[in-house]
Amino acid sequence: MNQLMSKKWLKKLLELKVYLLATSNPYFLINGFFLEQNCVILRHMEFEELIKKRHCVRRFDPKKEVSNEQIEKLLKAATLAPSEGNIQPWIFVVVKKQEAKQKLTDAIFGQTAIEKASVIIITCINLNITAEKYSERGISLYSIQSTAAATEHIFLALTDMGLSACWIGAFDEDKVKEILDLKPNLRPVVIMPVGYSAEEAFLTDRKDISKISKIIE
Ligand SMILES: Cc1cc2nc3c(=O)[nH]c(=O)nc-3n(C[C@H](O)[C@H](O)[C@H](O)COP(=O)(O)O)c2cc1C
Repeated sequence: MNQLMSKKWLKKLLELKVYLLATSNPYFLINGFFLEQNCVILRHMEFEELIKKRHCVRRFDPKKEVSNEQIEKLLKAATLAPSEGNIQPWIFVVVKKQEAKQKLTDAIFGQTAIEKASVIIITCINLNITAEKYSERGISLYSIQSTAAATEHIFLALTDMGLSACWIGAFDEDKVKEILDLKPNLRPVVIMPVGYSAEEAFLTDRKDISKISKIIE
């Protein structure tokens, strides 16, 4: 009983000490509590702004280049994506050469003005890596999920850096493999032209969440 009482008093004393510290020390007040709370709110707002800002852009300013440092940041962001058993079954090909960009325009059926984008990032699956560990499910599902997650990381990171991009999934896979000189185990899954936008992003709407969700309570 005595032991219990003393523990209770010790807790109360500690609480009092923290309270006194908090009220008497403005540094503690700012750094230890209020600022931390404000940061959480601020970060949340920034994230919302970022995901709302991300949109596909299909026309780029050919005069503005994406730097190597920016490309490195984008690839680093990609590698932070989740992947099956953390095997990271992705390879990113970065195309800067004009001739290759023009060839890629043919491979995507001339859809958008990608030859004007500063760089084109092609996300590929390394089929060997995923097949070795996860067989058929790795090839047909996990690797698609993880490379899509990595591509979205790139998309959000570039939006955060003031750049624009488009997600292109409709392309002639064999042609793309030939243009990029890819080994048979590499499957291109997304072609992403990246650069500075030369158009107002077309604001797309979204289905109401009540129509696309089911909550099991
Ligand atoms: C799997 C996938 C494939 C896509 N393929 C193409 C494509 O081939 N060409 C294209 O112009 N946009 C393509 N898009 C972009 C979509 O059209 C676009 O994301 C959608 O209209 C919503 O617009 P937003 O991204 O601007 O919000 C693709 C997007 C995804 C996720």
